[in-house]
Amino acid sequence: EGDLVVLGIETSCDDTAVAVVRSDGEILSQVVSSQADLLVKYGGVDPKMAEEAHSQVIDQVVQEALDKAYMTEKDLTAVAVTIGPGLSLCLRVGVQKARRIAGGFNLPIIGIHHMEAHALVARLIEKDLQFPFMALLISGGHNLLILARDLGQYIQLGTTIDDAIGEAYDKLAKWLGLDMSRSGGPAIEELAREGNDKSFNFSIPMKQHKDCNFSYAGLKTQVRRAIESKKIDAKIPISSASYEDRMSRADMAASFQRIAVLHLEERCERAIQWALKMEPSIKHLVISGGVASNQYVRARLDAVVKKNGLQLVCPPPRLCTDNGVMIAWTGIEHFRVGRYDPPPPAEDPEDFF
Ligand code: KG4
Ligand code: ZN
Repeated sequence: EGDLVVLGIETSCDDTAVAVVRSDGEILSQVVSSQADLLVKYGGVDPKMAEEAHSQVIDQVVQEALDKAYMTEKDLTAVAVTIGPGLSLCLRVGVQKARRIAGGFNLPIIGIHHMEAHALVARLIEKDLQFPFMALLISGGHNLLILARDLGQYIQLGTTIDDAIGEAYDKLAKWLGLDMSRSGGPAIEELAREGNDKSFNFSIPMKQHKDCNFSYAGLKTQVRRAIESKKIDAKIPISSASYEDRMSRADMAASFQRIAVLHLEERCERAIQWALKMEPSIKHLVISGGVASNQYVRARLDAVVKKNGLQLVCPPPRLCTDNGVMIAWTGIEHFRVGRYDPPPPAEDPEDFF
């Protein structure tokens, strides 16, 4: 049924993302404004600068999303917005905007957990995806393995004890002098294709821990040391590196990626065995979050999931990285079961924090 139309707003990190989605799964519009110039300038996300950038574009991005959907606020059923986890300064910009719209047009408002949205957007893509299912959520800030038993009922099977995999990709990109005008992950993925993934023997994290948790801090240290011993200089951008230098950076990227992903594979395999004992009817494992847009990651996990009798569900790359569609869609899922807040008071919609 396509009777609900929800606007989704996502500002938890550096992207200002807004979308309009209908309850039959039709994406009516999707707009993302990213802060590439700031990433270059600060070599990462600076919360205060990111907040300012969100504030500057939020009105315009929302307007563009409505225009592209041929809609006005009056056509909406509700407004969904990320309320966490994320940078609080940045989240606030999205929440205030959502409350202004909801207050002004008397619309219900739905607060969304960013990680739930990464997982549930898979149900927009794959109509057969029923609960219970498993999800591996891999992004810049999170590394989560969950068992989704039902809407709002999630069991955490594993999480990171230090860094998330995306953070390790981003750091490595910086250390290898890659182009920082986009996030590090895609740059490492591309460079790794030129390298030999066995040239450095990094060890798989947490081999001796027979659980489903993750750790990337140790691997980062191993890679850092290898970079130092190879005398790779991040101040020389890869575009000006000699052929030999470029190849040694590519080998580093490929070797890192192989081990980083082997760690995911091992944990997923164990998690599937655990989860099937609790819920033998599980048929799917979802991968989502920015790192899930990586083709190598997708191929390796597809093999593991198939080998263990499940099917991999993987949203297209633009729905794996942060986006407004996942927020709007999760809003629809909540709205259907009555989970939403009444419209904020029109006279003071921002009175919240
Ligand atoms: O989900 P996301 O967009 O934002 C967070 O919630 O963190 O994930 C961003 C992360 C970044 O660390 C980025 O480098 C990584 O996802 N990423 C990738 C790829 N595309 C994005 N990592 C590896 N390979 C990629 N192709
Ligand atoms: Zn995310």
